[in-house]
Amino acid sequence: MRIFVTGASGWIGTPAVDQLLRSGHDVVALARSEASAAALRAEGVSVRRGELDDLDSLRSGAEDSDAVVHLANKHDFARPAVSNAAERAAVETFGEALAGSDRPFVLASGVLGSFGRPSTEHDPSPFHGPDAPRGGAENRALDFLARGVKVVIVRFAPSVHGDGDYGLVPMLVELARTKGLSGYVGDGSGRWPAVHRLDAGRVVALGVDGAEAGQVLHAIAEEGVPTRSIAEAIGRGLGVPVGPIAPADAMAHFGWLGGLFGLDVVSSSALTQKALGWTPSGPTLLDDLSGPAYFRL
Ligand SMILES: NC(=O)c1ccc[n+]([C@@H]2O[C@H](COP(=O)([O-])OP(=O)(O)OC[C@H]3O[C@@H](n4cnc5c(N)ncnc54)[C@H](OP(=O)(O)O)[C@@H]3O)[C@@H](O)[C@H]2O)c1
Repeated sequence: MRIFVTGASGWIGTPAVDQLLRSGHDVVALARSEASAAALRAEGVSVRRGELDDLDSLRSGAEDSDAVVHLANKHDFARPAVSNAAERAAVETFGEALAGSDRPFVLASGVLGSFGRPSTEHDPSPFHGPDAPRGGAENRALDFLARGVKVVIVRFAPSVHGDGDYGLVPMLVELARTKGLSGYVGDGSGRWPAVHRLDAGRVVALGVDGAEAGQVLHAIAEEGVPTRSIAEAIGRGLGVPVGPIAPADAMAHFGWLGGLFGLDVVSSSALTQKALGWTPSGPTLLDDLSGPAYFRL
């Protein structure tokens, strides 16, 4: 298939594209900079220069392809409304472009919060409407099932880790370095799911080829790594003390990340593993945090 991929040069996009190419697909990537375009071309990917706000470019990219994989996100954490509006607009543009074609539309999302049990692929996203987290994009995309689009959702763990990570865990490392303390919220019993980057990339590629319309996939290898263990590993790596931060002080200490690091999120990928024949094989988050990669300046 000829697959249009946004975010192809990103942390998850790079291994996902690698897998798609190995599976024999042609990849056309959206790239907003010449540097990203050059890196993608070097991997054998065709490039369409453009940006998420250029909806005409997204539309024509989708119309010219047999499938769309949407991984790009503005990740404007200081102004989430900006990222969320772009995400929703992109999803609506792709949905309209693919309507009536039965072509796959694979959308990146995030795992859901806590339910007093591990969340599963069968738990619907509670986020609806443009003001919801991620602009309610998951449910908006699923609306297009009824209009003949083969929508597949991939929910990623909050830590997609590996050498070169620039996601949430490196932010915790930098906070601990700056403050001289690796903190955890409360008693640190809150948990975060995790997956290695290469395993996450494989779920995306398998989602294009092997998932059913409307299927939700969980790119999760570890259901819940205790946040206290994450903080302890960071403390060891940096050689700084480890200690509790009272929940009331979490936002002051961690900034916006305090709201996330204080959560207890546990999520299963049993259904995904069975459906796709996917077995995560990468190192664990704590394995990765036991090496030097996360602590280089
Ligand atoms: N990484 C995680 O731990 C994690 C966890 C949960 C969910 N997710 C979700 O998974 C998806 C992929 O995440 P990621 O970590 O791979 O993201 P990332 O590394 O931040 O990738 C950013 C990618 O998006 C593209 N991009 C950013 N802003 C753009 C814009 N305005 N217009 C066009 N392209 C733009 C970048 O393209 P250029 O190279 O052209 O700049 C780059 O390819 C995202 O939806 C993310 O929210 C990730």
